[in-house]
Amino acid sequence: MHFVIISASPRARAKSNTEKILRRFLEGFEGAGGTAEVWYLAERGQWPKAREAFEQNEHILFALPLFVENIPGVMLEFLEGLPPKREPGTKVAFLLQGGFPEASQLRCGERYLKSLPARFGCECAGILIKGDMFGVRLMGDKLGEKMTEPFVEAGRLFVGTGGFPQDAARAFAGPEYMPQAEIKRFHRLGRHLQKFFMGQVAKKLGCKGKLDAQPYLSEVGSVKEGGSRDGTQQ
Ligand SMILES: Cc1cc2nc3c(=O)[nH]c(=O)nc-3n(C[C@H](O)[C@H](O)[C@H](O)COP(=O)(O)O)c2cc1C
Repeated sequence: MHFVIISASPRARAKSNTEKILRRFLEGFEGAGGTAEVWYLAERGQWPKAREAFEQNEHILFALPLFVENIPGVMLEFLEGLPPKREPGTKVAFLLQGGFPEASQLRCGERYLKSLPARFGCECAGILIKGDMFGVRLMGDKLGEKMTEPFVEAGRLFVGTGGFPQDAARAFAGPEYMPQAEIKRFHRLGRHLQKFFMGQVAKKLGCKGKLDAQPYLSEVGSVKEGGSRDGTQQ
């Protein structure tokens, strides 16, 4: 089974979690006998070839990160230029991953993706969603590999089925909402660790201010007290 995989992360390959996840997915997929070609929408020069591959193949997989509850702009732009398929039979699957751990965070994007293939004269072959992927690249190779381990099995499964069956996808997504006990644990300990960790990440990225700085607080305060700055009521 040959697949055209289109990575719709706007990040450069070297910095992309989607890329790390895709590599693990391909480990399982190719190990089980599948073949694939991968195109990157972050590399504009690849768009004509990616479009051609979409037009000429029947098994397509889009791999993408969740950006502001939905699909990245770069993917939307690519899809806008895709002509619908003339012949029926093309199956399109999606692998959607995001930063927040609860599967519920990805449901809005999932619903939107489900509606997409029909617009291009294709069928939807399933959507795999997974949260808690924010740290895949930042956590280093060893932890990153552990976090992406489930994708190896997903790749294997994909060869046999040509898509993501609903039951398997549901189990793969993990908890819809975090259990109360875990939320309490997070408030007690996790949030302090996370604050420290995010501070380190921010420093690495060149951030000089405090992460909990609220430079616009006075503006928000004046709105709360009744009316916006131009005098209209809110
Ligand atoms: C601009 C932006 C918006 C994001 N919005 C969401 C979001 O709404 N929900 C979520 O769970 N994660 C969100 N994330 C986290 C990414 O989905 C997550 O870190 C993903 O693994 C990034 O993959 P990439 O490195 O291939 O871009 C956002 C990240 C960025 C940079």
